[in-house]
Amino acid sequence: MQPLSTLLQTVPASVTAMMMQKGRELKAAGVDVVNLAGGEPDFNTPEHIIRAAHEAMLAGDTHYPTSWGSPVLLEAIVNKLARENDVRVTPAQIMVTPGGKWAIYATLAATLNPGDEVLVLDPSWVSYGPMVTLQGATPVRVTLDGNDNFRITRERLEAHITPRTKLIMLNSPNNPTGRVITREELAALATTATAHDLYVLSDEIYEHILYDGAVHYSPAAMPELADRTIIVNGFSKAYAMTGWRLGWMAGPAEVIKLARTLQTQSITSAASFTMTAGAVALDGPQACVREMTAAYAARRRFMLDALEEIPGIECAPIEGAFYLFPRFTATDKDSLTLAQILLDEAHIATTPGIAFGAAGESHIRFSIATHMEDLEKTVERLARLVPNL
Ligand SMILES: Cc1ncc(COP(=O)(O)O)c(C=O)c1O
Repeated sequence: MQPLSTLLQTVPASVTAMMMQKGRELKAAGVDVVNLAGGEPDFNTPEHIIRAAHEAMLAGDTHYPTSWGSPVLLEAIVNKLARENDVRVTPAQIMVTPGGKWAIYATLAATLNPGDEVLVLDPSWVSYGPMVTLQGATPVRVTLDGNDNFRITRERLEAHITPRTKLIMLNSPNNPTGRVITREELAALATTATAHDLYVLSDEIYEHILYDGAVHYSPAAMPELADRTIIVNGFSKAYAMTGWRLGWMAGPAEVIKLARTLQTQSITSAASFTMTAGAVALDGPQACVREMTAAYAARRRFMLDALEEIPGIECAPIEGAFYLFPRFTATDKDSLTLAQILLDEAHIATTPGIAFGAAGESHIRFSIATHMEDLEKTVERLARLVPNL
């Protein structure tokens, strides 16, 4: 047989998916597993959004839509960006995608050539590096320091710039660290991006999930970054719509034009009626988003207080998203071993920090988009396990 894709064979399988699967298998075998490995809200999609999709289907919205997004959703995104992010774009600067993940892929496909380098902040979401590799480009890891709250500085970015550097990937609020980028960090990013003519991919999928007065700023709202930033966003997290597969990207018209070519010649589009419902989500009442965020905030408070009582665990008070990223200080076991012990001995499925890069080592990621009872079980089990690690 002919050899299969060498490029794809260099891409590792997702550790998050592996841990979720292990957790599911144990659960199916009758074990009381608490699953904190995933990254999705435990809430169902708000009813008014579901109703909008249902009504759209009944009204015949079941045909091929415009590949890059229905006019009504493009318009809703234009308005949302102006209203919430202080970003002014035209519909020609937007593409609707089946999930934010495809928007990231399309952004990279539209901007990169083989041999280009992309700055991937470490730790960062598991799929960034592999998606860069799939373009024939090279992810260059910029190690951030957990002891310095994973702060982004100009020096840390500049240390990895070469003539081949093309783009910086930013994610704020951040998965897995829970950090929200500050004005000062954004200024450092802007200085580096403009000095070296770099694109910025700004993954803003957790923008609404903020705590203790943290504020989300989009780099695209900064005049010096407006024409080099591609915003990636979606409905999965804010509106609990993970299964719908609906997201979007907004950026320079030339980038969007190429992304639209990719989409037209590959997957065609997101599903038609999801777009109609997506417009209702953006244009409709936002109380549902506030209510879900309030629930995450209560769980975050509970977990931060409870973890503080367990010697051997240090957990920074996250500013956004719905993950805790504690460090296990009482053991020198690596995070993969720790995650395996947590699963085997305490029946808690988590994601090892190493999945997010070397800077994540000795950390474990817990999703708090999980029922309170499961979080209570987690704390009880950790209190018993950690002293014996
Ligand atoms: C940082 C980050 N970006 C993007 C996504 C993609 O989400 P979706 O494809 O469901 O819109 C996720 C999902 O977990 C994520 O954590």
